[in-house]
Amino acid sequence: MVGASGFGRECLDVLDAMVADGAPLEVVGVVDDAPSSVNRDRLAMRGAGLLGSVAQFVAAGDRSVGYVLGVGHPQVRFRLVEQLDDAGFTAVSAAHPSAIIGSSSSIGPGAVVCAGVVVSTNVTLGRHVHLNPHVTVGHDAMLADFVSVNPGAVVSGEVTVGAGTLIGASATILQGLLVREDTVIGAGAVVTKNVPGGVIVTGVPARWRPRTEGQQ
Ligand SMILES: CC(C)(COP(=O)(O)OP(=O)(O)OC[C@H]1O[C@@H](n2cnc3c(N)ncnc32)[C@H](O)[C@@H]1OP(=O)(O)O)[C@@H](O)C(=O)NCCC(=O)NCCS
Repeated sequence: MVGASGFGRECLDVLDAMVADGAPLEVVGVVDDAPSSVNRDRLAMRGAGLLGSVAQFVAAGDRSVGYVLGVGHPQVRFRLVEQLDDAGFTAVSAAHPSAIIGSSSSIGPGAVVCAGVVVSTNVTLGRHVHLNPHVTVGHDAMLADFVSVNPGAVVSGEVTVGAGTLIGASATILQGLLVREDTVIGAGAVVTKNVPGGVIVTGVPARWRPRTEGQQ
């Protein structure tokens, strides 16, 4: 697991639940460049070992160990994947046993599907897509690589979401719409029209403005 902060430890919960459910995997530890002392303590309390920084893992890590990114920011995930894949590591996907994945749906390498998520039929989730708890994704939707969907958001049927876009908590995207890449949909927004790339979207009905680097 890469990432010791809140979302990293939530992703550890997903892996632990998979292990408890009989999945053939073992969690070997957590990698983080600068874990806070409070997060070190939280990891220690749950018995999860800290393996060091990403650079240390790249330098000496066992290439047969798969990795999962517990990092919420899509662009940070993108940079980590470049580093880890270039070094010969392989991403693995993780889905909590309580998540429902419909027929003909596919989950890309490195994707994380948290507890209580419902993915309908014929949905495509790209590489390193993150679906936080209680997200729903409707039929025939396509979420491109590095999309993050925060808790409780609703992605309706036949929606397409471009790479690196973040959908805020409890936001709703109405059916059939296209949301382009590297956009941020604010918490609670209701998207009623196609959205361009690189914007911040808020409100009901949603309106947008240009996005600056780092906003989410
Ligand atoms: C929309 C968002 C990206 C804006 O980020 P930002 O540009 O840094 O925004 P700021 O905090 O500087 O706020 C700018 C203005 O937008 C308003 N605003 C912020 N988020 C908003 C939202 N989701 N809906 C409506 N208005 C919002 C603020 O109240 C503020 O208004 P003001 O200028 O009248 O005071 C961010 O607030 C957001 O909703 N991100 C998603 C977060 C999320 O899902 N969190 C859950 C994590 S599990």
